[in-house]
This record gives sequence, structure tokens and C-alpha cells, in this order.
Amino acid sequence: MQEPQVLIIEDDADVRLGCVQALMLEGIRAQGVCSTEKARRLIDADFGGVVVSDIRLPGQDGMSFLRDITALDAALPVILVTGHADIATAVQAMRDGAYDFIQKPFSSQLLVEVVRRALEKRTLTLEVRGLKRQLAAFGGLESRIIGRSALIDDLRRTIADVATTSADILIQGETGTGKELVARCLHDLSGRRGPFVALNCGGLPEALFESEIFGHEVGAFSGAVKRRIGKIEHAGGGTLFLDEIESMPMAMQVKFLRVLQERIIERLGSNQQIPVDFRVVAATKLDLAAETAAGRFRNDLYFRLNVVRVDLPPLRVRREDVPILFEHFVVQAALRHGREPPEIKDTIVRELMAYAWPGNIRELRNIAERHVLGIRLAIEATSLERTLPLAEAVDAFEKSLIAEELRRQHGNVLRTAKILAVAKSTLFDKIRKYGLDGDMR
Ligand SMILES: Nc1ncnc2c1ncn2[C@@H]1O[C@H](COP(=O)(O)OP(=O)(O)OP(=O)(O)O)[C@@H](O)[C@H]1O
Ligand SMILES: [Mg+2]
Repeated sequence: MQEPQVLIIEDDADVRLGCVQALMLEGIRAQGVCSTEKARRLIDADFGGVVVSDIRLPGQDGMSFLRDITALDAALPVILVTGHADIATAVQAMRDGAYDFIQKPFSSQLLVEVVRRALEKRTLTLEVRGLKRQLAAFGGLESRIIGRSALIDDLRRTIADVATTSADILIQGETGTGKELVARCLHDLSGRRGPFVALNCGGLPEALFESEIFGHEVGAFSGAVKRRIGKIEHAGGGTLFLDEIESMPMAMQVKFLRVLQERIIERLGSNQQIPVDFRVVAATKLDLAAETAAGRFRNDLYFRLNVVRVDLPPLRVRREDVPILFEHFVVQAALRHGREPPEIKDTIVRELMAYAWPGNIRELRNIAERHVLGIRLAIEATSLERTLPLAEAVDAFEKSLIAEELRRQHGNVLRTAKILAVAKSTLFDKIRKYGLDGDMR
């Protein structure tokens, strides 16, 4: 059921019904309850509506309820309804933070008017609050998902945008590109209070898969001596991270699709239907569309998962992020090992930028660790077969220099050209060539 826009607390059944009907006639969703205790169960800090409460109520009165609500969310409009003798109380109520008060008896027109104004204020408050949250979340992401390239900027923005929706998400990216990190960020920003539960679909024998994901009752199969709660149920109110989704056995894919559509599970060996509120973030290293075309992954499940997709770019297409990532991991490793971070020489940076990074960020992190420990960089030995052709390496280096300087000059092309000692037109050409237009001002 949709949340009401107005919650009416009134112990007199006739008055309550009258208020609800008057508001409903004006297209405002209203719900009536007879006590503040009942109302409290319907309200949380992000309640999307407003409250109209009688002051005199059996049990907790309206004034004391107002104080509770103010403590929960000071910006939630509470309109108090007073009898004749209650004027002094009403004045006090306004001082205590009530939005407005209405004196009995009142016309439906007055009620509708006051409620409309309060609702407008509430909508605005929640909008501003949502924007602020998004902004804070985005800021937090910058310290977790490191990188200055436009691709990583886009990634952070996408995460902040989709995290708070209820949509299931498919993350696609090569090994070590940060799929699990992104899944965790999505969960942490989702506002979902339940846990983050991870399941690697590749690591499970087919026979165990079903009971692992759905759980089972005692005696569901030989060996089922204890009841087991499955991963989906564990993820209730939270996020279920399905890693290597492409390895999910075909027979499971059918069952899982049904659960995705209905959000109801049955443990093995039980007919009881259990509704579970969970959000799926699935990850794959493969091109799932190609897997589907080749008949190795079910079409319908693919389409269901592919609604919101996050593609993680490999490191070699955003080499300008290599220096900052390397520095970040060097500092981290130095802290972990209780050492001074060693100097990062230009020659090392050049070499790192020219490397193709088949293991992506995980490989870079390992190399940073070796650097801190004073072990020769692993890529030196293999650099011959794995580094880029000279022309590409030079381009990558040039791109990073320009991007870095543009940033330092806050996107001012003239100043950047001067410092790099190139003609402005040459710089423009290169900015276009490397797709750095977004960094320009
Ligand atoms: N943009 C980033 N900024 C900082 N750290 C990152 C970033 N991307 C990935 N990492 C780190 O790199 C490591 C590898 O990331 P993660 O395990 O999320 O990759 P993955 O895509 O799940 O890899 P695999 O496909 O091998 O499972 C982790 O330590 C993660 O924290
Ligand atoms: Mg992973």
C-alpha cells in the first residue's frame, strides 16, 4: 500500500472519517488512526506526508506526541486540532514546533487548505534532503573509488544515482577492475539497513547451490539435519551480491528468475512462502550478452538483470589514473607495513603508464606493495612482451600530462598551453584527440 500523505489522529470515529473523506475528495491520500501509538508505527524520519493530530486523546496526548515527532524529524509538519478551551495549549504547541493549529469545529475547506500548505513544505524538505544525501554520498565515493579520469567520474556519478533506487544492477568488468568494491559502495549508499551478503556462483558445486541460496528445512534431503537459512533470506533488507553470475547453473537460473520477479522464496523441503525484500547486484567478467547469444546463459534472466548496467573500464583505457592509484596504494601499503612511503620516481611512473595491466587495479595494488617492500617491480621482467607499442605509450603519457596540467589550471586552456609550451591550436587538437574536452573550461 502506498504511504498516506496525511495521517489523521483522532479518537472520535465520526470526526476521523469526516476528515479522511474531505481530504480524499480533494485527491489527497489520507489515513485515520485512533491513537498516537498506532500513528507512530506508520511514521519514520523520512515519512513523505504530514500529521494532523487532535490534542486531547486517550493515552498519549497530542502535545507529547508532537515532542516525539520533533525529536524524530524536526521538519515533519504536525498540525494540531484544538477544542475551545485549548487555546493556551495551542499557543504553547506553536512554540514547541507545531506547523499550525486548527480550532474545532472547522470546515473541510480549512483543513484542506492547511494540509496542502504543509504538504508543499514537506515535499520541498524531502527534496532538499535527498539532494544533500546524494551530494554527501558522492563526496564519500571519491575517497573509495580513486581516479581522475572522466570514465571514473562517470562511474561515481552513476553509482550515486542508482544506489538509492530499488533496481537490481549488473556490473560487468574484467578481472580486478573493482566489481566487488563497486557492489559494496552501491550497498553502503543504498540506505538499506540489512547486510551485504556475497555469494560466488563460480565456487559452488551445482548440488549445493539451491540449498545455499534458498536454504532448507530439516530432512529436505539426506544430510539436511539442521535448518539452514539461505543467502537470499540473509540478505533481507540488504543486498545480495552474486559474483560470477555467468557460472550460475542453468536449472538455477530459471528458479532464480522467478524469485527476482516475485521476491518470494521457499526453503527446500517447505511449502511456506517467505517474502523477502532484497536487492541484487550481480557481477560478471564476461560479456553476458555474448554468453546469452551462445546459449550459455538464459536470455530472460539476462534481460531482467541488464536493466541497470554498470560497466567498469579496464585500467589500460584510463591510464591517466595510474599515477594517482599507484600513489594511493603505495601510501596504504606503507601504512600497513609501518614504513615510510618510498619515493616514486618519474621513470617508474612512465613505466607503469606504458604497461597494459591485464590484472587491472588488483595487479597495480600488488605492484605498489612490492615497491614499498623494496622488491623489484614485477613488470620489469615481463615488460618486453606486455608493454604497449612505443607510439601508444607516448600518447598515454602525453594525455596524462595534459590532463594533469589542465586540472591544475582549472581547465584554463590558455594557461595550460603556456606552461606546456605548445601552441594553443596544437593543444586544442590534442585535447580533442584524447577526449579531454570535459576537463576544459
Ligand atoms: N577505483 C578504485 N580505487 C581504489 N581501489 C580500487 C579501485 N578499483 C578497485 N580497487 C581495489 O582493487 C582491488 C580489486 O578490486 P575488486 O576485488 O573489487 O575487483 P573485481 O572486479 O571484483 O576482481 P575479480 O574479477 O578478480 O573478482 C581491491 O582491493 C579494490 O579495493
Ligand atoms: Mg571480485
